[in-house]
Amino acid sequence: MNNLKKRYIYIQEQIRSNDYEYYILDRPSISDHQYDELFKELKQIELAHPDWVTSESPSQRVGIKPSTDFATFKHFKQMLSLANAFNADDIENFHDRILKNLGNKEQIEYFCEPKMDGAAVSLIYERGILARGVTRGDGTIGEDITSNIRTIRSVPLSLKESQNSFPDLLEVRGEIFIQKSDFNALNLRAKEKGEKVFANPRNAAAGSLRQLDPAVTSSRPLAFFAHGIGACQGHEFTDLEQIFSTFSSWGLPVNNYNKLATSIDECLHYFHDIEAARENIPFEIDGVVFKVNKLSLQKQLGEIARSPRWAIAHKFPAEEVHTEIEAIDFQVGRTGILTPVAKLKTINVGGVNVSNCTLHNLDELNRLDPRVGDGAVIKRAGDVIPKMVKVIPKKRNRAAAVQAPKKCPSCGSKTIFNFQAEWLVMNINNSKPVKKFSSNYEAQKYLDDQQSSQLNIVENRLNTPFLKCSGGNNCPEIFQGKFTHFVSRKAMDIDGLGQEILYTLINKKYINDFADIFSLKEHRAELEKLERFGQKSVENLIQSIDQSASVELHKLIFSLGIEEVGETTARNLANVFKSMEALQNATFQDLIEVSDIGPRVATKIIDYFCNIENITSVKKLLRHLSIGNPNINDVNEEMKFLGLQIALTGKISPMSRDEVKNLLLSGGAKVTSSISKKTDCLIAGENAGSKLEKAKALGVRIIDATELTDFINDPKTFL
Ligand code: IVH
Repeated sequence: MNNLKKRYIYIQEQIRSNDYEYYILDRPSISDHQYDELFKELKQIELAHPDWVTSESPSQRVGIKPSTDFATFKHFKQMLSLANAFNADDIENFHDRILKNLGNKEQIEYFCEPKMDGAAVSLIYERGILARGVTRGDGTIGEDITSNIRTIRSVPLSLKESQNSFPDLLEVRGEIFIQKSDFNALNLRAKEKGEKVFANPRNAAAGSLRQLDPAVTSSRPLAFFAHGIGACQGHEFTDLEQIFSTFSSWGLPVNNYNKLATSIDECLHYFHDIEAARENIPFEIDGVVFKVNKLSLQKQLGEIARSPRWAIAHKFPAEEVHTEIEAIDFQVGRTGILTPVAKLKTINVGGVNVSNCTLHNLDELNRLDPRVGDGAVIKRAGDVIPKMVKVIPKKRNRAAAVQAPKKCPSCGSKTIFNFQAEWLVMNINNSKPVKKFSSNYEAQKYLDDQQSSQLNIVENRLNTPFLKCSGGNNCPEIFQGKFTHFVSRKAMDIDGLGQEILYTLINKKYINDFADIFSLKEHRAELEKLERFGQKSVENLIQSIDQSASVELHKLIFSLGIEEVGETTARNLANVFKSMEALQNATFQDLIEVSDIGPRVATKIIDYFCNIENITSVKKLLRHLSIGNPNINDVNEEMKFLGLQIALTGKISPMSRDEVKNLLLSGGAKVTSSISKKTDCLIAGENAGSKLEKAKALGVRIIDATELTDFINDPKTFL
């Protein structure tokens, strides 16, 4: 690969990770200017090498690819999307960023609008006549849906004469949507006719717009509101308020709920007012949008990652919906734990149909006490899993309380209760506890040390138990779950072994053990004969298995599925023991010395490697693997951050936050997101906030940007 191509791929990765940091973590690690420069460079390279561009390039982002059924149309200017805020802090940060970008000089006015839940379109008027209507598409290229747009009554085919003369060219941007009452009527009609009903008004609007037959679109109750401007020739505007009042004078529909705010506090008030009015607003909204009013300031602020810096969507919190409980089942996970799950009468929460809701554990089941036939309040935020907030007991003939099953619903083996416990060393003379331990092992050790016949050990069960299937590998759910975990991305990462293929190979007994996966190539001919397994797919499968055979130690440890050993623990174990053999031979004492590992986890690890089935299985597996460098720091140094608990805050440079974090983790540090008395030091970058204050209050050592390199080079003498 030549250097330019390498650079191109590198830039793509940088942009992707920065989009993530900026929008999801709200912790950008590079400046907006640096970001813009990267994007510019990406575009330049793509201009020179169009054959390198794939749909995954950040330049090709934003929305779906236009379908080939409609003619495509390239937008005059890109149609952007909005960044999201979920609380007042996010909004204040948005405002602070704007002030900072504008040099803190300006008093900012914001134009506030409801965030319509519909489909964005661009309408082009030439000398006042509607010439074209285009979907947003991927933001750059949309579909020409002019004939469909023309069927929408609220879209004027020609602008109304007013004191404002028409521009030669005007691109009005806005939202096509369906009113709540129209949506209900539409679905009712569809139901009566036995047709498919729409999940939400947005889907209905978007689907209706993309009908190849305009007559179908015309039969759908679509409406339109303008919420922005694209290209404009022959007319000058100064701010959004003026744009929308002019639009109104031309007969373009503008939302009545729009309002100008003169401070960010007013914006927050607007959010609460609209939220309170939401039920009575005749169309679906999922939040509000704040936009810098003055166009000159918008221009100065520009955009980042396909969204303007001058606008933000403030989303409403999760919706709560009432439904009915139809059943309560127990599902078996890969560790054998039975999880209670409520089967619900399907309801739509925030645009998604929900028919199952996990109740997590027996504690939660007892707390909520849901029974078949009871009502339930379900909450769901964004893509978060649905949560049962409340149970409304059925008034008459309420069903009996749910009993923990005595048999596993999957394999019929007996279920067993597992308790979290503590072990008390008691004085047998007065029955008083002398000392408390979190494992039997430690208590026993203490007893041995004391060499006293006056002491004994009592197990004290702590909280409500969880239920487990005792079937082990004989339970199909446990067995399949174990392999699903083994091949998953964060574990062995065998992407050719998707669930369907995996289960088929398990059912046909090609896979009985981890090692069998790596011997599949010996059965190539047989596999090719299986249904849905052509020559090509078997070849791909074997290739992806071969690739995964060279694996990093921490991934291998994680993939075994040892109870309580998650990704971080696996990483810590790999860093300390450096080989599978050393880990297998580790004593309880060795294990609890590892960062983050307490007696409970140590016991699970010991238990795992004491089991003869596991020992043979791992031994056979190891013959097929080549285990990669277990610790990226090995080359030059040992575990120099071992034993240190370190927190990070603010914008860290010149290294990115992730780079610093990985360096610390691989050096044995425990990296936390919050500060406590146990924190050894806080690495504080630019714009550090409350964590810095807390660290100061607790007297935690603070390391600033100027000290970072010294600290990384020699942490121990530095602290
Ligand atoms: S302005 C400059 N205003 O939200 C950003 N968008 O994530 C362009 N939307 O594609 C959009 N109500 O479909 C804007 N009052 C509003 C909106 C709105 C809904 C949608 C629109 C856009 C998406 C952005």
